[in-house]
Amino acid sequence: MKSVPFALAALLLATPGFADTKFDQIKIGAGAALFDAECRRCHASDTTHDSYGPPLENVVGRGAGTYPDYDYSIALEASGIVWTPAALRAWMEDNSGFMPGTKMRHVGIEDRTVQDFILAYLGSISQRDPKKISD
Ligand code: HEC
Repeated sequence: MKSVPFALAALLLATPGFADTKFDQIKIGAGAALFDAECRRCHASDTTHDSYGPPLENVVGRGAGTYPDYDYSIALEASGIVWTPAALRAWMEDNSGFMPGTKMRHVGIEDRTVQDFILAYLGSISQRDPKKISD
């Protein structure tokens, strides 16, 4: 756990202007813990690690099903959607209802606060500033 503050600090330095308040940093930290509990067993947060599902680095603002070389379901690949914060919320809440035919197991995160934290974390591992992507 010791390396977490350093990793976080490195991330914050790498994304100037994103985590610019203490509250943002706390949200990202909470989101990282929730991501570890709910998502990391299937998703790497950076592309250098093996990942059963597609790696989620840069997912905010990315076209769905566009990570190169990942074998997506036809439903996801053909969806034509962009992962805005609103789309990511709907996905976390009910991915199989939001996109019938996806091969991601249903996760069902309905708590909006938990969604907020995970979104803050996903934003921190994305180069684009999620605050500038309309939802
Ligand atoms: C049991 C494994 C598993 C868990 C747990 C899981 N996912 Fe997934 N996820 C997948 C798989 C497999 C896919 C590919 C789905 C497809 O191709 O239809 C996927 C796809 C995605 C995508 C689409 C990415 C893209 O490149 O289009 C997002 C976003 C995503 N997951 C977010 C999450 C989040 C956030 C969590 C935690 C709340 C989570 N997933 C938990 C397996 C999982």
